[in-house]
Amino acid sequence: MKDKPSLPIYNSHSSLPQSEMSVSSASVNEQSARNVYIETYGCQMNVSDSELMAGILTQSGHQTVSNIDDADVILLNTCAIRENAETKVINRLEHLNHRKRREGNLIIGVCGCMAQHLRDKLLKAAPYVDLVMGPDAYRNLPMALNAVASGDPFLGLQLDKSEDYADIAPIRKEGIRAWLTIQRGCDKMCTFCIVPFVRGRERSIPLKNLTDDVKRLVDEGFKEIVLLGQTVNSYHDGSHDFGELLWSIAEVEGVERVRFTSPHPADATDSMIDAMENCPQVCKQLHLPLQSGSTPVLERMRRTYTAEEYRELVLKLRERIPQIALSTDIIVGFCGETEQDFMQTYQLMADIRFDSAFMFKYSDREGTLANKSLEDDVPETEKARRLNEIIALQENISADINQATVGTTASVLVEGDSRRDAEQYHGKTDTFKTTVFPKEDAQVGDIVNVKIHSATTHTLIGEIAG
Ligand code: SAH
Ligand code: F3S
Repeated sequence: MKDKPSLPIYNSHSSLPQSEMSVSSASVNEQSARNVYIETYGCQMNVSDSELMAGILTQSGHQTVSNIDDADVILLNTCAIRENAETKVINRLEHLNHRKRREGNLIIGVCGCMAQHLRDKLLKAAPYVDLVMGPDAYRNLPMALNAVASGDPFLGLQLDKSEDYADIAPIRKEGIRAWLTIQRGCDKMCTFCIVPFVRGRERSIPLKNLTDDVKRLVDEGFKEIVLLGQTVNSYHDGSHDFGELLWSIAEVEGVERVRFTSPHPADATDSMIDAMENCPQVCKQLHLPLQSGSTPVLERMRRTYTAEEYRELVLKLRERIPQIALSTDIIVGFCGETEQDFMQTYQLMADIRFDSAFMFKYSDREGTLANKSLEDDVPETEKARRLNEIIALQENISADINQATVGTTASVLVEGDSRRDAEQYHGKTDTFKTTVFPKEDAQVGDIVNVKIHSATTHTLIGEIAG
């Protein structure tokens, strides 16, 4: 095992003058150009960051490859949100190390939230890792590859509130749906959450940059734009708020649909709701993380709303936008969660009837406020039981809601061939439900009306309506 003692921690671009702000370090010549494979874990924000990393690498003369066997650099873009996300990456690293031992010159890098979270501890767990880089340091990727090639391992872990990568052109896979990061970091400090510690303070990308990006995306053939941010609706650029951004993006010629994820309930302003209600391109679908249906638990989580306020927000949304589809995130077994607290979550989910939900057992994360000041006191078996109960509840609700669409007609954006049957297309409804139907003469990128004739818990099945 290689010994990697005290490593230098590089700042990202902040020491460079603005005029040199593109990517750090000169471009590479043909010999030192690398084939880089980026493997992405976790949320859409990471998918978007991987596209950014591909942009930075390509701009400096490297290339990304889609087959891992062709790679001489493998970068894992990681997640730290729950313990099992990190365990998965450690296992993957061990597997990659076998190849490194065989090939000798393979470079392995760990990027993203887990890199930022574990920092140099990661090198103790996986000493063969050559490069550890947090989400604000990607401008240094070319420099890091040079450093590693000359034998120096690289740690890039400075969080940088000024880093928004607004000048970097990400490289996206061709397709119909483009993910567009409009905001980085998070200022909310929910007590269970590692994100503010690994992604730093909240910062919004200027509105003008975003509308220019969207024009380019439309030219490249994208039809649906998904705006991304940790609390996407707290976006602000001077006096421009999130509602205004929605309108500005939707009005770019050629944009068929706009979605966003994930908003915070406390920032669900009238301006946002107005845009959802009145702007035809903004999809009638909202992922609105609830976390718990118990107000005391929400208080301990520092979510800044009560269960009652959340319930009222849902009422208001459904009043203004009756067809709206709602999904959510729930954590069970948070510190001090009693059976009664849990039953309140269960009941609120049963009352609201979300279209779908992401449900998790609480995972204690070192460095969070809960880790420092609350006790992770719900036994693992109890967390598992609670989780299974709400999963069963939600599966029934999702199945019922999908069943109720049978006989209706939905507008579906055609995304591509169905995985199971090349004679069929798959696409999403305005309300983000996966729909499968025979192709007929529709083309990928079209919006078609599909008459739904059957449904499963997760899919609608139908045919194009004449
Ligand atoms: N606002 C972010 C939230 C990111 S984390 C967003 O864009 O979605 C996604 C979800 O993971 C959270 O809403 C929460 O339900 C869950 N989560 C976060 N920290 C967790 C933890 N320590 N244990 C279990 N689940 C957690
Ligand atoms: Fe995490 Fe809460 Fe921000 S869940 S990402 S601290 S809104």
